[in-house]
Amino acid sequence: MNDRPTGRPDRRTFAIISHPDAGKTTLTEKLLIAGGAIHLAGEVKARGQTRRARSDWMKIEQQRGISVTSSVMTFEYDGLTFNLLDTPGHEDFSEDTYRTLTAVDSAVMVIDAARGIEAQTRKLFEVCRLRSVPIITFVNKVDREGRSPFDLMDEIADQLALDVAPMMWPAGLGGEFEGLYDVAGQRMLLPEGRVESVDGLDDPKLDTMLSERAAARLREEVELGVGGYAAFDRAKYLSGDMTPVYFGSALRDFGVPELIHALRDLAPSPRPQPADPAPISPDQDGVTGFVFKVQANMNPQHRDRVAFMRLCSGKFRRGMKLNQSGTGKAIAVHSPILFFAQSREVADEAWPGDIIGIPNHGTLRVGDSLAEGTPVVFTGLPNFAPEILRRVQLVDPTKTKQLRKALDDLSEEGVVQVFHPAIGSQMIVGVVGQLQLEVLISRLEHEYKVDARLEPSPWDTARWIATDAAPDMAAFQSQHRSAMATDRDGQPVFLAKDLWDLNFVSGRSPTVRFSATKERV
Ligand code: G4P
Repeated sequence: MNDRPTGRPDRRTFAIISHPDAGKTTLTEKLLIAGGAIHLAGEVKARGQTRRARSDWMKIEQQRGISVTSSVMTFEYDGLTFNLLDTPGHEDFSEDTYRTLTAVDSAVMVIDAARGIEAQTRKLFEVCRLRSVPIITFVNKVDREGRSPFDLMDEIADQLALDVAPMMWPAGLGGEFEGLYDVAGQRMLLPEGRVESVDGLDDPKLDTMLSERAAARLREEVELGVGGYAAFDRAKYLSGDMTPVYFGSALRDFGVPELIHALRDLAPSPRPQPADPAPISPDQDGVTGFVFKVQANMNPQHRDRVAFMRLCSGKFRRGMKLNQSGTGKAIAVHSPILFFAQSREVADEAWPGDIIGIPNHGTLRVGDSLAEGTPVVFTGLPNFAPEILRRVQLVDPTKTKQLRKALDDLSEEGVVQVFHPAIGSQMIVGVVGQLQLEVLISRLEHEYKVDARLEPSPWDTARWIATDAAPDMAAFQSQHRSAMATDRDGQPVFLAKDLWDLNFVSGRSPTVRFSATKERV
C-alpha cells in the first residue's frame, strides 16, 4: 500500500501517545523485540536504569521515575525501517513533547482497556490533531477486566471527535478473554499463538475454537459493531479523521504483530513537511531537515550537545555540508548519529523520515532548518507563550556568569524560555508546565553547579509583540516599559500580570499584534 515510486528505502516514523501506565513501555519493548532490536523483555527499562546509574545526568528522571526527555529508537521489520520517537510520559504538557510530535508521520494511541481515554492521552491527541497526524488506536490489557469494546469506541468517537473503525474485536475480556477476531482479515487469533482463518462469523469452525458463550457473544457484538461503526477508510485515516482500532495485550505479546502490520500497511511513508513558501516533499532532491530537539550534556564528561534532526527530503551522506536557516552558515556533518535501541551508530547515509543526531557546540537550535542548497524554512515548530513566569535568584551572586551560560544552554534546548526585562537585571524564566521548573533547578544544580532559587514574578504570561510600523512599536515600548522584555533572540515581549491586563492593554493598542506562539525563522 505504501509503494514508493522512487525506489527509496521506506520509513515509518511514529510516536506512541498514552497516559502513564497504559503500557507504552511494555509495548515499545514488544515492538523492539519483534524488530529484533532487543532480545529480552525488560531491556527498555533496564537500559534506562544503567544509563541513569552511570551518570548523574537527568537526576530528576531517577527521582521521579519518569522519562523527561524523548529519544529515538530505530528498528527494522519486514524490510521497512521504523523510527519510534519516544514522547515524555509525564503529565505535564511540555514543549518538548509537542516538538517531538512535529517530527512524526503517524502515532499509535495506547489506551488501557479499563480506563479508556485519560487526561494525558487527550492532551497528546490534541497536539496530533493540530498537525492532522494519523492515529492507530491500540486498546491494551485485554487480558484484564476492562470496559466493553462499544463503550471504549464510543468514548474515542465522542471525546476525540474521531470516526472509529474496529479492525479487531476481542472475544471476551479479562478472565473471559478467548481471542481476537480480525474483522477485515476474517481470522481468529487465539491466545496460544494459533491463527485460524474462518469463513465469516457464521463459520461453524468458530464454535470449535471458542466456548459457546464467547462465540455467541462475538457474533452478536461484531455484527453490531461492523454495522454501527464506519468501515476503515484509509483516506480518512491519513487525514486524521478516522482511527482504526486494534485490541491486544502488550504484556502477553498478543495483537502486537497485528499492530506492526497496521503500521506497515496503513501508516504513511514520510509525509511532505510544512515549509515556507511550499511544503517539502520527501521525493524532492537535495537534503532538507529540521531540528526538533537539542539535548545538552548527554555525556557529562564533555559539554556536548546533540541536535536531533528529522530528514525531510534527499539522501543524506556523512560529511555533507548543510546550510543553516537564519544564519546561512554551512555546517559539515561529520559524525551523524543513528539511534538504535541498544546502540548509537555513526550514520553513513540516511533517508527522509530518519532522525539523525548531530553533535555540535551550540550552533544548532530547535526550529533550525538545514538544507543542502538554498536554506528552507520549515514551519510549525513554535515556542509557546509561557504560562508560568519566575524570577531567577542566585544563592551565590558570584555565579552570574555560570547562570547566564546555563540559562542560555537550557533555553536553547527548549527546557525553559528566558526573558530579559527592559528594567532591572534579573532574568525571568518562563515555562508551559510546572515540571519544566523542576527540571531547570535540578539541571542547574547537577550540570552547572549553580545553586538558584525561583521566586514569584509579578507576571503571569507573556506575548510576543509585533507591529507594521516602527514608531508604533517604539511608542508601545516606552508606554509599557516596566512590562517589556526581550527573548533570547532579542524579540520584544510584553509581560502581562494576568489575562485581564493582557486584554486591557491589547484592546488599547490596536496596531500591535500580540502572539501566544513564536515560530523560529
Ligand atoms: P507506561 O510506559 O505506559 O507507563 O506503562 P508500562 O508499560 O510501564 O505498564 C504499566 C503497567 O501495566 C506495568 O505493570 C505493566 O506490566 C502493565 N501492563 C502493560 N501492558 C499490559 C497488558 O497488556 N496486560 C496487563 N495485564 N498488564 C499490562 P506494573 O506492575 O506497574 O509494572 P511492572 O512492575 O510490571 O514493570
